[in-house]
Amino acid sequence: MSRANAYYITSPIYYVNDAPHIGHAYTSLACDALARFMRLDGREVKFLTGTDEHGQKVEKAASAAGEAPQAFVERMSRRFSRLSDQMGFTNDDFIRTTEQRHVASVQRLWRELAARDQIYLGVYAGWYSVRDEAFYTESDLVDGMAPTGAPVEWVEEPSYFFRLSAWQDRLLEHYENNPDFIAPETRRNEVISFVKGGLVDLSVSRTSFRWGVPVPDDPDHVMYVWIDALTNYITGVGYPDTAHPEYRRFWPADVHLVGKDILRFHAVYWPAFLMAAELPPPKRVFAHGWWTNEGRKISKSLGNIIDPVALVERYGLDQVRYFLLREVPFGNDGDFSHRAMVSRMNDDLANDFGNLVQRVLSMVNRNCDARVPEPGALEDADEKLLAAAHALLDELRDSFARQSFHTALIRLWEVIGAANRYVDEQAPWALNKTDPARMRTVLYVLAETIRHLAVLAQPITPGGAGRILDQLAVDEGARGFASLGPDGALVPGTPLAKPEGVFPRYVEAGQGAR
Ligand code: MSP
Repeated sequence: MSRANAYYITSPIYYVNDAPHIGHAYTSLACDALARFMRLDGREVKFLTGTDEHGQKVEKAASAAGEAPQAFVERMSRRFSRLSDQMGFTNDDFIRTTEQRHVASVQRLWRELAARDQIYLGVYAGWYSVRDEAFYTESDLVDGMAPTGAPVEWVEEPSYFFRLSAWQDRLLEHYENNPDFIAPETRRNEVISFVKGGLVDLSVSRTSFRWGVPVPDDPDHVMYVWIDALTNYITGVGYPDTAHPEYRRFWPADVHLVGKDILRFHAVYWPAFLMAAELPPPKRVFAHGWWTNEGRKISKSLGNIIDPVALVERYGLDQVRYFLLREVPFGNDGDFSHRAMVSRMNDDLANDFGNLVQRVLSMVNRNCDARVPEPGALEDADEKLLAAAHALLDELRDSFARQSFHTALIRLWEVIGAANRYVDEQAPWALNKTDPARMRTVLYVLAETIRHLAVLAQPITPGGAGRILDQLAVDEGARGFASLGPDGALVPGTPLAKPEGVFPRYVEAGQGAR
């Protein structure tokens, strides 16, 4: 397949020292929705996720758990691959930075940089707090202590540096020439002013711990996290083999989705590393916002971490996927609350979408001999609803290309709203007695509108959308976007199974079903 048809999307690789939480699930979910959308649109997709397994924190966490680092990372990494299964993520690969393919890749990138004089040996010095496990600059200190109040000590150790400072102008030029490289816009502006403020060379090795990729030709050093972590995106497509079919097809990546806290690494360090090694930078980096929990910052010490699997068990997978991508414009911060979750799942999914499908398919079942009805001549109202359904594909393509998931969903729900109003206006239940031919036309128009809605909802709510398409007897092979529009229309006379509800309501304990 040609490069133009390929689509490469990545999530961050997650630190294994934490249990999977909402932040991990959120970025991967957005990637998954985009990957599914592009596949349904006929693109050849590669969706990569995985785990970031090196560094001092992992070394310490392993020793605290009384385990060898390798055994520890094996065990912890599995929690993330399991999360992918539990959330229905369709990643095509799962990369781990301790894999041989990655060690070979990052060592090769290092050599390419060293060969171009982009890396040199110097001394890393700073105020270190053992308690915070963090370095501070002189200006960070408050009365000689860390801003957290922890004592600090001056430490110096030999370190390799990447000549990041030399890339300032070329980075700015790159941002200027590629206005879509960083999104959203406000984040782009932040990165640009950060780079304009001046870049200093970046420490890329350590001698103070061992759990990392050894620096080629200097085994006292291991690589320091970001050069190791970021390189996963090219390892995943076969680097250092730049003739690898996947590398040729998929690099540069179409989009790296990341949280706002790690945008700088992706939008500054990563393109600088790549340009310095004479490799093309990714096409786009999109930074999403952070979730709070019932209005409060999420933190381990507050004990209010949101476990994505517990959410799915409580509300359902489609429901959680829909909520996370609908509630907050992708790129903004947002709040998770039980109330908002229930309102989305009951109002939008159960009432608006679920009831539309249930009402229409029950009437088809009862009044049309459980077959797709035969339509007669179309009236204006029919044409209008179908035209809105047909227009959705282009509108959603535009939204997904901008990672604007919530606008895609708003658009889908506008058509769901229009279909519900059309049902009320046309009153097909009354036509059953007065004008059965017209009733069949109305129900056909509705069934065809629902087919469009379900096909296009698959990337976000794959379970419910699939069940709607099952109930419309749409073949598995006819659920891609190529089937949208009149050519793939439902065939009158096709027998349909008895309809069943697709989006259950959330019932508060003690309230009983309504
Ligand atoms: N290992 C690095 C990334 C390397 S990528 C080459 C890392 N790992 S992480 O496990 O900390 O990743 C966490 C991801 O979860 C980040 O994208 C971060 O933005 C996201 N979130 C963590 N807490 C979050 C919220 N409360 N809300 C939304 N996302 C948040 O960083």
